[in-house]
Amino acid sequence: MRISVIGCGYLGAVHAASMAKLGHDVVAVDVDPVKIERLAAGEAPFFEPGLPEILTEAIASGRIRFTTDMAEVAGAQVHFLAVGTPQGPTGAADLTYVDAAVAALTPHLGAGEFVVGKSTVPVGTAARLAAEVEAAVPGASLVWNPEFLREGFAVQDTISPDRLVYGVPAGETGARAVALLDEVYATTLAEGTPRLVVDLPTAELVKVSANAFLATKISFINAMAEIAEVVGADVTALADAIGHDARIGRKFLNAGLGFGGGCLPKDIRAFQARANELGVPDSLAFLADVDAINLRRRDHVVELAQEILGGAVTGKRIAVLGLAFKPNSDDVRDSPALDIAARLLGHGATVAAYDPEAVVTARRLHPELEYVESATDALRDADLVLVLTEWNEFRELDPAVAASLVSNPVVIDGRNCLDRDAWTAAGFTYRGMGR
Ligand code: UDX
Repeated sequence: MRISVIGCGYLGAVHAASMAKLGHDVVAVDVDPVKIERLAAGEAPFFEPGLPEILTEAIASGRIRFTTDMAEVAGAQVHFLAVGTPQGPTGAADLTYVDAAVAALTPHLGAGEFVVGKSTVPVGTAARLAAEVEAAVPGASLVWNPEFLREGFAVQDTISPDRLVYGVPAGETGARAVALLDEVYATTLAEGTPRLVVDLPTAELVKVSANAFLATKISFINAMAEIAEVVGADVTALADAIGHDARIGRKFLNAGLGFGGGCLPKDIRAFQARANELGVPDSLAFLADVDAINLRRRDHVVELAQEILGGAVTGKRIAVLGLAFKPNSDDVRDSPALDIAARLLGHGATVAAYDPEAVVTARRLHPELEYVESATDALRDADLVLVLTEWNEFRELDPAVAASLVSNPVVIDGRNCLDRDAWTAAGFTYRGMGR
């Protein structure tokens, strides 16, 4: 099928390459010529395992092309909308890019074609855009097909997702949209992927409520970590124990520095802003607590570092291992790790920061930090070690070697990812999160 993908960020670039992998003929558009040039050369503009491989394969097969010229989408049956919806100044989602993409796309749309929204938008956006598309191009329609991809697993989550959700209008248009999307996802559906057909507002809500739930689950366990710290309990053992209850489940119960990244933080804020607009602020008032618990984790680590170093970090050398908001990603958007590193520097510490993939992206946001080439370089002469992103490389560090490098063997395990006993046996004072 001829498909266009508008927006080549984390979502769009992966979606475009994945659609080509599924055998479709894809044209991918972005307003950023540098990004388009890199993608056309087979270079992924961010670190995402598996993306370079499917990109190279798609380019070699001739099934994908990248352009900044929206006119090239003409003739595609399905136009996926995959632009960003960043957090605006009030916390509400900024729909500038979505509106601009739809406005740029409509002159090239034909009757019978479908615009398929994938971006995370405030509930009600799809209905508004659908009306705009129908008014501009008689016979064209807009439906919503939210994505749930996790960075680091984006290719797998796109090709073999947990579920497909189609938000479509009632009647004949909806039936045509379902048939077309079934064709787009034929391979995925053949694997037995559940597919749910819902209306437009439900589709929009599925996405934001899934992220709100995940954020709540993480903040729940982090609240338990706060309690555990006061009473001397171990939150990891607690998570294991409650996680055995199938109704609760162990996933997303890892206490630590909390959530960051390009989705969860902004999505819970945008969702609250939307609830306020809809006149039901109380319904999502709890998300303010979810956000506050999450941000407190960062304060806690900064305070712990100060306490360990005798009240102030000024003049102390701190090794920061990890800058990305989670492992297997170079994304530092709203990264708890990078935030903590920058705050420690602000308090007068010398911060030697290392991340296996995110140094380049971190440097763009915080050029003032000292970035080093390896974990060894970071550890050398450190007065305190902070592990802030749970990369395997850090889990596998030999604590005896680490002990021989640092000047003061104290480690804060911000992700509860180290072997506490092994680090303690190597002479480290170990401080975990809620344990
Ligand atoms: C998330 C959703 O999972 C995905 O479905 C949605 O489409 C986009 O947002 P992503 O931002 O890639 O995906 O990351 P995710 O794996 O969900 O992790 C989010 C944050 O939560 C990370 O900072 C991670 O470190 C943190 N986290 C996750 C925890 O602190 N504890 C956990 O138990 C799990």
